[in-house]
Amino acid sequence: MQYKIDKGVRSENVILDIRDLSLDYVMPDQNIHAVIDLKLVARMGKITALVGESGSGKSTVALAVMGIQDKNAVISNGEIYLAGTDVLSLPKKDKRSYISNRVGIIFQDPIDSLNPLLTIGEQLVEAVLIHEKITKNQARTIALNQLLAVSLPQPEELMKKYPFMLSGGMCQRVMIAIASVFRPLLLIADEPTTALDVTIQAQILHQLDSMRKRDGTAILLITHDLGVVAEIADDVCIMKDGHIVESGTVDDIFYNPQHVHTRQLLAATL
Ligand SMILES: Nc1ncnc2c1ncn2[C@@H]1O[C@H](COP(=O)(O)OP(=O)(O)OP(=O)(O)O)[C@@H](O)[C@H]1O
Ligand SMILES: [Mg+2]
Repeated sequence: MQYKIDKGVRSENVILDIRDLSLDYVMPDQNIHAVIDLKLVARMGKITALVGESGSGKSTVALAVMGIQDKNAVISNGEIYLAGTDVLSLPKKDKRSYISNRVGIIFQDPIDSLNPLLTIGEQLVEAVLIHEKITKNQARTIALNQLLAVSLPQPEELMKKYPFMLSGGMCQRVMIAIASVFRPLLLIADEPTTALDVTIQAQILHQLDSMRKRDGTAILLITHDLGVVAEIADDVCIMKDGHIVESGTVDDIFYNPQHVHTRQLLAATL
């Protein structure tokens, strides 16, 4: 089957295809229309950047894809096709495992995402064992290799450490190692470098880039930083007030922006 995103970019390798998604947060006095008629596609081995200012609805989209949105969130319309299946139509009992077997996620604050009471090794081995029926020793070997794959030195030593003993950049690499343990079809990275300083940011982006090249992972990169987008993304969706106001290839967006909001974002970056 052929899919399409704006401006005629066609691909059969669509991993995530969000169609006309609308999501409200129901509040006692009002409904917040956080996502409105949103269309977005992420392709195998490619990086789709979802860009927008704070509060535009980016994380809401990520959480909806993961099926872990807040309790007061109501999806009023649309479909979220993941590897060809609309996850919104799956029975509740199947939904969680369907998604978690296909999607990994990393967040802005890696230290908060790791369990402070378990060593890095325990957390990685646990992640491996969730997805593979193998012995603990075999899982340990895989865990060590995962740490090497994200360029973390002395993995043997690192396995014994607790998250608070690591820098933010190291924690984020551990999160990438955990997220890539089961070779997800899709990785969602929600502002993965915002909390890190500039040199470390570049290293983390490099890790994401090699993950898509090595494993063919489709990456949905959420960011407000167009500099990051220019460096690494293939496709770009610009979000404002719950809408995608423009989408296209990175060249379309940077060299031929159509929407006034895209131009404003670009102007603010220069
Ligand atoms: N549980 C909730 N209940 C009510 N409103 C919410 C809830 N979660 C988010 N919102 C609102 O929905 C809108 C979109 O929020 P969201 O967190 O998705 O934005 P974002 O683009 O990720 O912002 P940021 O760049 O700051 O992370 C915002 O107006 C936010 O205040
Ligand atoms: Mg957010």
